[in-house]
Amino acid sequence: MNTIPPLDLTEQYCTIAADVSTAVLEVLASGQYINGPIVETFAQDFGRYIGSDECVACNSGTDALYLALRALNIGPGDEVITSPFTFIATAEMISAVGATPVLSISI
Ligand SMILES: Cc1ncc(COP(=O)(O)O)c(C=O)c1O
Repeated sequence: MNTIPPLDLTEQYCTIAADVSTAVLEVLASGQYINGPIVETFAQDFGRYIGSDECVACNSGTDALYLALRALNIGPGDEVITSPFTFIATAEMISAVGATPVLSISI
């Protein structure tokens, strides 16, 4: 029987460790941990990478989900279909904007 190997974050990190270390040290040395020019440059670069004129850098995936739902005016009275095979933050942020998460395994 074939098995799907578990996600190996350490192996994944090792492929980019030097770049991550350089970037983290640059942020620490700048003293600007919130917003600032490094975050702005990241947002611009990432926006270009994904082909978008608009890009907002977030401190977490949870905040990104919240902002995306707010940007779409999702709120009370709305239902958002999502997968049950995800992190709790997905349903949590749907609830946080006042909408109802609907867990579905079929599309
Ligand atoms: C699918 C998914 N969504 C959202 C999150 C939340 O991200 P964060 O921990 O950065 O808030 C996670 C975190 O593991 C996740 O796996």
